[in-house]
Amino acid sequence: MKKAKVLFSKDFAIAKVDDRLYGSFIEHLGRAVYGGIYQPDHPTADQDGFRQDVLALVKDLRVPIIRYPGGNFVSGYCWEDGVGPRELRPSRLDLAWRTMEPNWVGIDEFARWGKKAGSEVMMAVNLGTRGTQDALNVLEYCNHPGGSKYSDMRIAHGAKEPYHFKVWCLGNELDGSWQVGYKTMQEYGRIAAQTAKAMKMLDPNIELVAVGSSSASMATFPQWEAEVLDHCYHDVDYISLHQYYGRRNEDTPNFLAKTVEMEHFIKTVAATCDYIKAKKRSKKTMMLSFDEWNVWYHSNEADRKIMQDTPWQIAPPLLEDHYTFEDALLVGLMLISMLKHSDRVRMACLAQLVNVIAPIMTEQNGAAWVQPTYYPYLHVSNFGRGVALQPVLSCGKHDTRDFTDVPDVDSVAVFDEESRTLTVFAVNRDLHEATSFDIDLRDFPDYGLVEHVSLTCDNLQQRNSAAGQAVVPKKEPAGIIDGGVYQGRLANASWNTLRFSDQ
Ligand code: AHR
Repeated sequence: MKKAKVLFSKDFAIAKVDDRLYGSFIEHLGRAVYGGIYQPDHPTADQDGFRQDVLALVKDLRVPIIRYPGGNFVSGYCWEDGVGPRELRPSRLDLAWRTMEPNWVGIDEFARWGKKAGSEVMMAVNLGTRGTQDALNVLEYCNHPGGSKYSDMRIAHGAKEPYHFKVWCLGNELDGSWQVGYKTMQEYGRIAAQTAKAMKMLDPNIELVAVGSSSASMATFPQWEAEVLDHCYHDVDYISLHQYYGRRNEDTPNFLAKTVEMEHFIKTVAATCDYIKAKKRSKKTMMLSFDEWNVWYHSNEADRKIMQDTPWQIAPPLLEDHYTFEDALLVGLMLISMLKHSDRVRMACLAQLVNVIAPIMTEQNGAAWVQPTYYPYLHVSNFGRGVALQPVLSCGKHDTRDFTDVPDVDSVAVFDEESRTLTVFAVNRDLHEATSFDIDLRDFPDYGLVEHVSLTCDNLQQRNSAAGQAVVPKKEPAGIIDGGVYQGRLANASWNTLRFSDQ
């Protein structure tokens, strides 16, 4: 059997993990909102029309923050269309996804849903077709107590108390030519700076996210970050990162090595922020918001067809990736990568949450069910709260088409002082061989294994469906502890969560 060993010590802390690292995203896109979170004629719908089967699965994930209402959608969104009496709300063409937006759900409904889900809302403003004044209007509507035009409008719509949304995204992917109202880096930097300044005048308690590159492969990356931050470094609190991976004309080992690239992306953005920090002689360190990440490629062809052949439908099935077991392994690896950089990556959003490239799926006339990717997210969100610890890891390495020296095993740990629990997350990338996995617990005397849960499957392409859950976690037999070292085993191609405690 192959061998891997890792040492975790409280002395090698990366950072106290911001819970908002486990955020997600709901966009007015496909069946995310209509037929996803909201479906008044569904048997589980509550008095507000929200599906309670979906809410239960979201609550199990303990999603701390949810980005809304887009995404590409926000760059042409008129938020006023989605507030007030439903019968007066207009339908609108959504150019981003070539659908019809009926505005049955808007800010007030989503705020109510977020409350039920136990999640904060991360609002995005339209800096595509709109600008500073509109950003101020929507902020006033949401966060100002009352006595002004838009705050009184909210009160008239039944929400006496302001929502106090804390995190606001200054637009979305405005570096991309597909974006309605896309901009050059100079144009965006200026509008981001002036909008940020004005929004903080209105509500100094908010935190602002400037738009970073839409992916590491954008031709303008990382000059976009440098130029944008040169304009707005003092006015914003985060710069965003977006990255989706797909397996296209490549084998699984190359697909599972994509997090090597992801970590490089994070380090490059952090370095670019630090360059501007130095240039400005600033004391402030810019934090990163990885507010769109996931696997996304299965549905690309079907989406193109829907948007081309049958546009302007309400809630067509767009971006409904049907995920495989190997996708879940990459999602687990992506979570490990973000935890390893949690000193800079403070917020992140798995994009998205329901039906649209999502861990949770719904049947129109049936139940909600979960994809294989649900499980790594569930485990890390529930057990990854505390202080992230640097792995001192030794294991075999392998080369793939695009990457060299890819570690066979990737791992990180989180220590929760309060519950005195050490949780180790690990993926064995080796598709064929299991590995021994020794965890040096010298800094955790008297700790024993609470549970080792894994996600494994003989078929890398196995999917779940409404009819059956083929990919589900299972409990692994406990290893032994000898001389302060836990002697465990990671199955071939596996996602693993090992929890230790002295309780
Ligand atoms: O999450 C799906 C889409 O991906 C978002 O609307 C956009 O921001 C990104 O390109």
